[in-house]
Amino acid sequence: MTAVCEYRAGLEGIPVTQSSISFVDGHRGILEYRGIPIDKLAESSTFLEVAYLLIWGELPNKDELEAFEHEVNHHRRLKYRIRDMMKCFPESGHPMDALQASAAALGLFYSRRALADPAYIRAAVVRLLAKIPTMVAAFQLIRKGNDPVQPRDDLGYSANFLYMLSEKEPDPLSAMIFDVCLILHAEHTINASTFSAMVTASTLTDPYAVVASAVGTLAGPLHGGANEEVIDMLEEIGSVENVEAWLDARLASKGKIMGFGHRVYKVKDPRATTLQSLAERLFEKYGEDEYYEIAVALEKAVEERLGHKGIYPNVDFYSGLVYRKLGIPTDLFTPVFAISRTAGWLAHWKEQLAENRIFRPTQIYTGTHEVDYVPIHGR
Ligand code: SDX
Repeated sequence: MTAVCEYRAGLEGIPVTQSSISFVDGHRGILEYRGIPIDKLAESSTFLEVAYLLIWGELPNKDELEAFEHEVNHHRRLKYRIRDMMKCFPESGHPMDALQASAAALGLFYSRRALADPAYIRAAVVRLLAKIPTMVAAFQLIRKGNDPVQPRDDLGYSANFLYMLSEKEPDPLSAMIFDVCLILHAEHTINASTFSAMVTASTLTDPYAVVASAVGTLAGPLHGGANEEVIDMLEEIGSVENVEAWLDARLASKGKIMGFGHRVYKVKDPRATTLQSLAERLFEKYGEDEYYEIAVALEKAVEERLGHKGIYPNVDFYSGLVYRKLGIPTDLFTPVFAISRTAGWLAHWKEQLAENRIFRPTQIYTGTHEVDYVPIHGR
């Protein structure tokens, strides 16, 4: 088969699906979930309500939301065999690898692949949304040598996650801000991990494999893993005075500035703007982060040098400063992203199943033909 259009590295600008889940206007800095602007959702909604919206296409009414929250609460616990499996993971392993393995392991317990059955779809959605946060928190406690704590039924989705992580009930402001972070990260059209989820889904495998493959893709530093690297970068810069010299040296060596640039946005990512203001709200209450001034100075310096190329802060630039203030360790930033993005991955899984055709693109072959086979002793 011949290619029907020119090859573009990274599939830039090439549609790979039709979708009604989210919309990005990268020139005007607009992001909508099912047509609703992200700032409206961040202001008024909750993560589970947003997950429902993304996956089933409409905001739930009060009864539907309560039923959904109740189901998710009920499925938060992990089977002891999964907890025991996690205890065998090396403590030094990255929490994203632990999460990918644990999410895949759910398939051992729950896979029936009844993909045409709406009850199976709903159960898988509920299980994944419920158990992914418990897995992230469990690995954090296990690697410190502790038993994971059980989820608390009286706490909402975000408050319960922060509780399971620290064994302390968070104050309402922290829980609310964390919930907004989850809303902001829940979905973003055909990003790399979502595409990975869709490709996996298109083979009609089980949803746990779909989410596990997406977790593996999100982990990379060019994608979700950038949020961790932003903190390392701010630490390396060390002071506001050092920002310009550090940046110039980095650009001279053709290095990337983590948390900046985006395939679609050519202005500041609207999520970065909201995350910056969430960070400021936390600083007002709990005191400023030593890295915040450096981050603001870096944003200004990058804009001066790279603004003409459309390089501005993306979602990963300010999220780490919020998470740090919430007491979340740096290497859990990307797993937290995964907790939230599970909603988007599942929405695309469901959409893919509704009109499935296996992904099987083509290539432009650049190799040779009719080459002689040389036996090993002759090479
Ligand atoms: C996420 O797709 C999504 O929606 C992702 C995401 C989501 O919600 O799912 O928004 C989440 O993944 C955010 C991105 C996190 N990654 C980083 O912060 C890593 C740093 N940024 C980049 O490496 C880069 O900007 C990407 C990976 C985000 C985008 O890569 P592209 O579209 O392939 O762009 P490119 O690497 O080809 O760069 C184009 C130009 C180059 O300059 P020229 O060679 O044309 O002169 O822009 C420059 C690049 O050098 N450039 C940067 C830069 N990003 C782009 N230069 C310095 N620092 C940067 N960060």
